[in-house]
Formats: sequence, structure tokens, C-alpha cells
Amino acid sequence: MASVQIQGVSKGYAGRTVLSGLSLDIQDGECFTLLGPSGCGKTVLMRLIAGFEAPDAGVILIGGDTVASAASGQMLPPDKRGLGMVFQDYAVWPHMSVFDNVSYPLQLAGIATGALQERTQRVVALVGLAGLEARLPSQLSGGQQQRVALARALVSEPRLLLLDEPLSNLDANLREEMRFEIKDLQRKLGITVLYVTHDQEIALGISDRLAVMDEQGALRQIGAPHEVYERPCDDFVFRFLGIANFLPVRRDGADLYIGGSSAAWVGPAPDKSGARLTAGFRPSDVLLSRGGAGLPGIVRRASFLGAQVDYLIDIAGTLIRAALPSHECLERGLLFVEGDHCLVSLASVQWFVGDLISEARV
Ligand SMILES: Nc1ncnc2c1ncn2[C@@H]1O[C@H](COP(=O)(O)OP(=O)(O)O)[C@@H](O)[C@H]1O
Ligand SMILES: [Mg+2]
Repeated sequence: MASVQIQGVSKGYAGRTVLSGLSLDIQDGECFTLLGPSGCGKTVLMRLIAGFEAPDAGVILIGGDTVASAASGQMLPPDKRGLGMVFQDYAVWPHMSVFDNVSYPLQLAGIATGALQERTQRVVALVGLAGLEARLPSQLSGGQQQRVALARALVSEPRLLLLDEPLSNLDANLREEMRFEIKDLQRKLGITVLYVTHDQEIALGISDRLAVMDEQGALRQIGAPHEVYERPCDDFVFRFLGIANFLPVRRDGADLYIGGSSAAWVGPAPDKSGARLTAGFRPSDVLLSRGGAGLPGIVRRASFLGAQVDYLIDIAGTLIRAALPSHECLERGLLFVEGDHCLVSLASVQWFVGDLISEARV
């Protein structure tokens, strides 16, 4: 196991800055995810930690040892850093069997045959590929190939596992299954894992803590998944963690109105001051009724999706998404159709200062 410290790390290419003074502490034995949009610098950071590139500024420590320092020019080569890595294009060697793929790092290290066989068998079994040692990658599914890459990354018993979008080439079902398996493996081995992805579901599901990075490569928020999800520090983080509804709210004296309309705001009170505010909420925060209190809305689209019903609702000119459990809609007579009037209540609201644009679309 090993901690990772990134201290004031900068990296750019041809005068274009990708990372600027980035600092991050990953604890020993932690499963830490870096979540950010495509192109924000996640892979660049992984390459810096792995030692394929040197930082322009700053220091990187693994297990308390400096592995890269821009000031002193210190740069430990990748194979001396005690890492395992799996990248998106998992690149298992097509002409080599599962056994040869997995044992390759041990062969390189000159491990004796007996120990090599024993360690390879153990890690092949660990990732659920026992019995398939003689197969070629072309005789395996995408998920199995990804397990080969995982086994190869683990066979040297690394103290740190770097996973760079390893599941993005897999279909949705397999991605979900592998996500649980990676988490399981991390617990079993007690290994430190740094996982980078643009997929918020994976990040929320797998992490002990996660960091949200913006397009400029700056860290916006770090915390446990539920903390970041429940208390996003700004609207970027809020948007990035799921479907975001935004309703403009105008303050006029002591009264609150929905946007430019004369319709009164009905819902949780703002915890922020300012004349213009935005109420942010998830589709799952929306409660619907046919009567009583609530914001008047018109159903613009209704989609029955099995476990839930997805509605697009117009509230005083702003479209929002609502997701209600199907059983609740059926039991309470809340199966609306296009054109129906409804009343909208909100179970929870995140308040933002200023006008933000709603993302719901017809
Ligand atoms: N070797 C390189 N030369 C020039 N630009 C690069 C290089 N590697 C990455 N970049 C640029 O750095 C930015 C971040 O890339 P990357 O870390 O791959 O993003 P992601 O977060 O999707 O992994 C991108 O704009 C990319 O074009
Ligand atoms: Mg990348």
C-alpha cells in the first residue's frame, strides 16, 4: 500500500497549460477517483504519476518517497515506482495466451519458474479467469480481456494501482459488473487505487473519496461520494454528478417568484441572499400531485421506462425533468400524459446565486 502526494504539479505542451499547480493527497489503501470531463488532464496526471512524463513544476511522492521533482530534476523510471496500470485501450497482447500475458511482468523481472507459475495462477483466479489460462485474447469477451489487463497489472503486487477509464470500452451491463469487482478486489488486497473517469456513476459507486476536476484541470471539490453529491460546492460539480434541473427564482422584497413570471415560488427556502437565485434539483427530487400545494406545471412529455416514469415538465416557461418510481405513479394515480396539468414539489434544493440555464430538453 502507498499514499500519493501531488504537490504543486504543473504540466503543459507547446506553451499550453494542462495542469497548473495541482495538489492532491491520496491516502494509503484508499480508492480515490478523479472525475472530470474529457480533455481536462486526467490522463496527463496519470502519466506523470506513472513516470512516463516529467512535471514542469512540483513534486510527486509515492509511499512518502519522491518519485518526481521538477526542481531537482529527480525522476524515478516507471518500473521502479511499484505501480500497476490499466488503461482504456487495455492492450493485451493478441498473440499471447492469458497465462503469458499475465505472467509477462514476472518474466521480465526474472522470477523463477515455480514462483512465477504460482503467482500467475493466484492472480488469474483472483480476477475470475481460472481455467482460461491457455486461451488467446481473441477467444475472450471484452470483459474477460479487461480482467487479463487487470491481472497483469496486479501480478507484480504493486502498492498502487492506476486505472485510467478501464471500463469505457465495455457495454453498460459489463461496466457495472466490473465496477463491483474492482471495488471488491481493492478491498481484498487493501491496495491504493487511483481511478480516473468522466463517468459519474462509476466515480460515485467505487470511491472512498473523489475529486471533481473542471475543464481547466482545476480541482473543484474533494470528498466522500455522498458529501460531494449532497453538498456540491458549485453548479459545475452539481451538473457533473447527474442530471441537473435549474429553476430561476426572483426575489422581490420578501417574496419569491419563479423567474420572470408572477407565479410564487413554493418550496424549500433559499439559504442564499441575492435578487436572482437558481434552484437546482435532480429529477429524483421532484414530487408530483394533481392537487394541493406546489408549482403549477404542464407535462410536455411522459416516458414509461419500466422501473420509473420520466416526465418533462414546463414550469412557467422552464423545462425540468422528473423521475418517479412507476409503482408510486400507478398506486397514486400519477400517470400523467402529455398536456396534463400537475403540481410540482421538491424534496431537496441546492441554491445557487445568479441565473443558471436549465439543461432539460424536449
Ligand atoms: N503529448 C501531448 N502533447 C500535446 N498535448 C497533449 C499531450 N497529452 C495530452 N495533451 C493535451 O492535454 C489535454 C488533456 O489531455 P488528457 O489528459 O488526455 O485528457 P483526459 O482528461 O480526457 O484524460 C488535452 O487537451 C490534450 O490534447
Ligand atoms: Mg484520458
